[in-house]
Amino acid sequence: MKYILNRDYAKELIKWAYAQNEGPWFKHSLNVAKATENILMELNNNGYELDVDLGYNAALLHDIGRYKGFTKSVIHSYDGYTYFEELGFQGNAIVCVTHSFPNKNKQIEIAADWSLVPEHMKIKLVEVLDNNSTYDIYNKVITLCDALADSEGFTTLENRLVSVGLRHGTNSHTSLHWKGFYTIKNELEGLLDKSIYKLLPGVEDSIYTKVGY
Ligand SMILES: [Fe+2]
Repeated sequence: MKYILNRDYAKELIKWAYAQNEGPWFKHSLNVAKATENILMELNNNGYELDVDLGYNAALLHDIGRYKGFTKSVIHSYDGYTYFEELGFQGNAIVCVTHSFPNKNKQIEIAADWSLVPEHMKIKLVEVLDNNSTYDIYNKVITLCDALADSEGFTTLENRLVSVGLRHGTNSHTSLHWKGFYTIKNELEGLLDKSIYKLLPGVEDSIYTKVGY
């Protein structure tokens, strides 16, 4: 599985994408990458041998599909996937998809606005998610960190999920979607033997920010 390992190259790509479509997603991406780096380094302190540069870059670029402009639902995941597939980085392509599906390959249709996704995109997304090797530890860490960082900094899972819910709405599947994040959080905290929040400096400030804006 080929990933981008060079940080300078990853920064070049994110800057290019930001120039196509400026928005808070850029700072969010930087913070997701920082959170991912902190968690991977701690996992390594606990005996794992993970490539921190690989994870940092994949987290930095997980939303690169935003270069196409604002798109509803998981279409930015599809756009990111095809972008990296063409560049030959299959590992990065998969991360663009998995972060939108915390429930692994189950209950794909609970992703936001799945019904609005064109059929050819659905087929590709399902194909990626059906592959059992898709959800390795890098994908899990990045999926969780996507929900622990906004454009301002680190935040609690509760704050982030409610904030997204208030902005984009919720449906009858929302609690299952949320549960996917808590399942990953519990699994990673088991591996780390500590709260994930211990690795996110300043996360406590997020309780003072306004939610839903
Ligand atoms: Fe994101």
